[in-house]
Amino acid sequence: MTIRVAIRPMQLSDLAQVQAIDRRSFSMPWPASAYEYELNENPYSLLWVAEISPEEGEAIVVGIIVVWLILDEAHIASIAVHPDYRAQRIAQQLLISALRGAIQKGSQIATLEVRAQNQIAQRLYKRFMFEVIGRRVRYYRDNNEDALIMTATGLGPAYLEWLDQGLWRADAPTEN
Ligand SMILES: CC(C)(COP(=O)(O)OP(=O)(O)OC[C@H]1O[C@@H](n2cnc3c(N)ncnc32)[C@H](O)[C@@H]1OP(=O)(O)O)[C@@H](O)C(=O)NCCC(=O)NCCS
Repeated sequence: MTIRVAIRPMQLSDLAQVQAIDRRSFSMPWPASAYEYELNENPYSLLWVAEISPEEGEAIVVGIIVVWLILDEAHIASIAVHPDYRAQRIAQQLLISALRGAIQKGSQIATLEVRAQNQIAQRLYKRFMFEVIGRRVRYYRDNNEDALIMTATGLGPAYLEWLDQGLWRADAPTEN
């Protein structure tokens, strides 16, 4: 199922909802000040939220993504969807917007670290052509889990066209 969301830049007024999603999604959430720093102080940080607008009531932030632009690399620093709204393709929509935005700013590769046991996130990334290129042993301090380093290369105009044409939908990623 795909739920319709609006993807828009994160604002300071979103922070309470953003932190609530972060805390419900990660065993080591970012400190409260981190998102504020990213929004106010880090010119190389791109932050978006996914928002749904119910027929009645206020819009609700249901997902977040943070990307750091480091030279020609887009580093996906964080992506999370509120537990009540998962498996509705919200993370896919966030990732597409983030990759588009990063490519428009000159990124040629995208990288990230993901917990070795986090199959759901790895499946998401593989759909967008990320491949495992390395492993950081015992990277996560809370449970000593390894991190996989995943990279998508060749993010130029052809990749943008591949995104725009929806070709990423075509094949489910292979398990391994
Ligand atoms: C990883 C996460 C962001 C995915 O968000 P989401 O909106 O549920 O993901 P999507 O609905 O866009 O689905 C992405 C893929 O994961 C699969 N997926 C999502 N939830 C799933 C579930 N509960 N079980 C199995 N597969 C699932 C989808 O089927 C989809 O794959 P497909 O297109 O090949 O079918 C979300 O689970 C989350 O916030 N997890 C906690 C934070 C986290 O682990 N972040 C990643 C850090 S590296």
